[in-house]
Amino acid sequence: MTPKQAEILTAQMLTPFSDEPKSEAKYIVAHLAGCEPNRLLFSNADIKKEDIEAVVIKRRQGTPLQYILGSWWFYKYEFLVGEGVLVPRQDTEVLVEAALEFIEDIENPSVMDLCSGSGCIAISIAKEREDAQVTAAEKYNEAYEYLLKNINHNKANNVTPKLADVLDTPFGSFNLIVCNPPYIPLGDKEDLSKEVLSEPHTALFGGDDGLYFYKEISKNWKQSLKSNGILAFEVGINEAEDVAEILKANGFINIGFKNDIIGIQRVVFGTVNNV
Ligand SMILES: C[S@@+](CC[C@H](N)C(=O)[O-])C[C@H]1O[C@@H](n2cnc3c(N)ncnc32)[C@H](O)[C@@H]1O
Repeated sequence: MTPKQAEILTAQMLTPFSDEPKSEAKYIVAHLAGCEPNRLLFSNADIKKEDIEAVVIKRRQGTPLQYILGSWWFYKYEFLVGEGVLVPRQDTEVLVEAALEFIEDIENPSVMDLCSGSGCIAISIAKEREDAQVTAAEKYNEAYEYLLKNINHNKANNVTPKLADVLDTPFGSFNLIVCNPPYIPLGDKEDLSKEVLSEPHTALFGGDDGLYFYKEISKNWKQSLKSNGILAFEVGINEAEDVAEILKANGFINIGFKNDIIGIQRVVFGTVNNV
């Protein structure tokens, strides 16, 4: 069938369980046609009903759309994704924007991205600032494989990947440390969708109160910041004040916040004066 017919059929099949069947159908048919969603109108591909059905079954089982597509756009770059790695979220782009602002006036800045996953934060910063040296630390092998693939895919030669547990001994000396840690409180598990629960739980849950990584990282990684260095976290909804308190309790000063595009406090940061 033509891509147009396939889009209509896919949207109908997705309707019972998708919030955005039309938009998803466009992505899926473009994926099957091997073109960009905005080029679908010009595609002559012959889409098979059984291929659509196979994708719809996966979606009904809760496989994230992005895993089916195999890649997703974040900030200005494409990231390869699949089972074992967190899909980059638009909410996280505010951390990249904040990071670029923080290092604006520093030549050859050194940046560490803790809990790097797909590498979306590290690679976006590195691509925007080719004079920066960015280190990206990730503990889990499956996610680390995606980090390596994405460094290669984006030709981000100024990113150094490290297979490392960020709860172990810190290392290096950085102008900026950024981190989007696992931050969902364990008790919120019941409220998560099937799609989110298909992503690695090691990327999602941050202990009983969601704050475990913020506490450990603020305490331990402070020593890896240069004088006037900044530690900047992405935070979950309603976690900003608690994370600000954690930073203060660990001696950080000039605490600040940045909102995401819908006005939620998403980034909390602080400075050290390690002289
Ligand atoms: C919320 S995800 C963020 C991924 C990516 N930075 C992003 O923004 O999309 C958290 C990441 O931390 C990794 N992680 C969890 N515990 C870790 C640890 N102890 N040390 C290093 N990485 C860890 C997870 O595997 C996951 O990739």
